[in-house]
Amino acid sequence: MSTPSLVLVLAAGEGTRMRSKLPKVLHPILGRPILGHVINAAWQLEPNKILVVTGSGREQVETWLSENQPAVLKVEQTPRNGTGHAVRIALASQSAKSDSDHVMVLYGDTPLLTGAALRVLWQAHIDSNAAATILTAKVADAFGYGRIIRDKSSAVVGIVEEKDATDEQKAITEINSGIYVFNRKLLEEALGKITTNNAQGEEYLTDVIKILHEAGKSVIGVAVADQSEILGINDRKQLAACTEILRDRINEVWMREGVTIVDPATTWIESDVVIARDVVIEPSTYLQGKTAIGEDAHIGPDVTLIDCTVDEGATITRTYANDAHIGVRAQVGPFSYLRPGSELHKSAKVGAYVEVKNAIIGAGSKVPHLSYVGDATIGEGSNIGAATIFVNYDGVKKHHTVVGDAVRIGSDTMLVAPVNVGDGAYTAAGSVITEDVPAGSMAVGRAKQRNILGWVRMKRAGSTSDIAATKANEKTETEKQ
Ligand code: UD1
Ligand code: CA
Repeated sequence: MSTPSLVLVLAAGEGTRMRSKLPKVLHPILGRPILGHVINAAWQLEPNKILVVTGSGREQVETWLSENQPAVLKVEQTPRNGTGHAVRIALASQSAKSDSDHVMVLYGDTPLLTGAALRVLWQAHIDSNAAATILTAKVADAFGYGRIIRDKSSAVVGIVEEKDATDEQKAITEINSGIYVFNRKLLEEALGKITTNNAQGEEYLTDVIKILHEAGKSVIGVAVADQSEILGINDRKQLAACTEILRDRINEVWMREGVTIVDPATTWIESDVVIARDVVIEPSTYLQGKTAIGEDAHIGPDVTLIDCTVDEGATITRTYANDAHIGVRAQVGPFSYLRPGSELHKSAKVGAYVEVKNAIIGAGSKVPHLSYVGDATIGEGSNIGAATIFVNYDGVKKHHTVVGDAVRIGSDTMLVAPVNVGDGAYTAAGSVITEDVPAGSMAVGRAKQRNILGWVRMKRAGSTSDIAATKANEKTETEKQ
């Protein structure tokens, strides 16, 4: 199959309707900017070149392109005077390969487009040898789109923009997707003839259709199979609508691959996430970035994982985790917070109201309740008692704590870093551990308890405490007699 030598992606527009400081085409949809989705679809055609026209928010768009799509070429459109002007500038920057060159034009704001639809369009264009081939769609609500004008023999004779359309034309439901293939030479000739004589005072790319038709060249409309593919994003309502459609598409792919998604409407999986078979995803789960989930893992409800690796059979409930590795059959949650560098080995456990950062929790070790584990290495089979704090910050620097294998840290221990607790050691509940604990020892780091008898009678005479204490003492006295 032949492939296009050049694909143009127009992304210079103001995006005024977004009312945003971020360029429209950089607004993310499930982890990837709108423009990134369009470019990925274009790459599937294996074109020689993709050229993005930038303008509004150019610096941000070009930075994103350089970092994420380094093979894509860029050209600046200044001033910006419409889609026709953008294409004219783009073509002027690239010399034609031959007279029979064809160029594909896409708009950078249609993120649901697929490579498959582009291939159908491309093939139709090549097979028909048309001057222009337009991807069209019949939609229920055509508002805002250019309408496809056909004559009695149903040949495409032009495109009329919403703002220039008569009431009769507005009733047309076949719309211009903004996705086309042109014979390059004929396109360049036609672009030389367009004017700004329209409601928006811009050079419309869509005007070349009428020009080509009137010059006796053939223009073809190819209807897209799935109308959702051509949805363009101009405002935040459309952004949300497209995000929902993409969410459903991604969820469907994973369900077909053998993943159980209990509630697809509240499960948001970004484009680069990878999920193995027999994973179960409970409601309100967000899987983001480069997250990868291993077989039989059980995720959710209420889980957000960003750039996390989850191994086979792990269980994660009501948790927020970022850049964490959750090992085989490890358990996390409910109400846990895993920050970057959290590393849970096989069958480790992090429980309720526990925060972990830059710490290894060895195989089978447990941090079940109410703790902070920061900058630490915990060996295997150790238990960290409730409310233990790894005191890692002296106000200036962060320090590391090492806890060995089979250690028992008593509840409410403060491990003041840097400190080392040897294998098999214990700490007494409530201890503040500032010195290393040798293997097998019990560390007691707290004041010895003393009871001041009769203190309440002396200091709080007549209080409810005093009354209760007096009663208790009298009872003990009677029992003694
Ligand atoms: C455009 C089409 C319309 C079609 C719709 C499909 C024109 C005149 N109209 O309308 O027929 O139904 O898309 O979504 O083409 N851009 C530039 N430079 C400019 C102006 C725009 O690069 O000077 C880029 C924008 O960044 C955007 C794309 O071209 O990615 C389309 O522009 P937009 O203003 O969104 O056009 P629509 O009004 O949606
Ligand atoms: Ca648009």
